[in-house]
Amino acid sequence: MKPTVARAKRTVRRGEMVAAVDRDRVRGTFDVAVARLVSGRLVVVEDVCPHDGGRISDGFVDGELLVCTRHNWELTPCEDGLVRACKLRE
Ligand code: FES
Repeated sequence: MKPTVARAKRTVRRGEMVAAVDRDRVRGTFDVAVARLVSGRLVVVEDVCPHDGGRISDGFVDGELLVCTRHNWELTPCEDGLVRACKLRE
């Protein structure tokens, strides 16, 4: 069984991103990406890239952005756990 975000006992270091599972009373169980941005802010976002459905957790952290490596889009994590403002990485 995959660990849940609530049960995860692992430290996520600055600039690191890992895959996990979250449980929501309304939405049920779903995959999330957990990342520690370079500023130290911890973000948890649904592990689905808004561009074309790639796994965000397969990408990496670049400063305050997440990068989805499927098509190299930059993603801005928002306070509500969603990812917005994508742009193609040059
Ligand atoms: S699916 Fe993430 S950049 Fe295209």
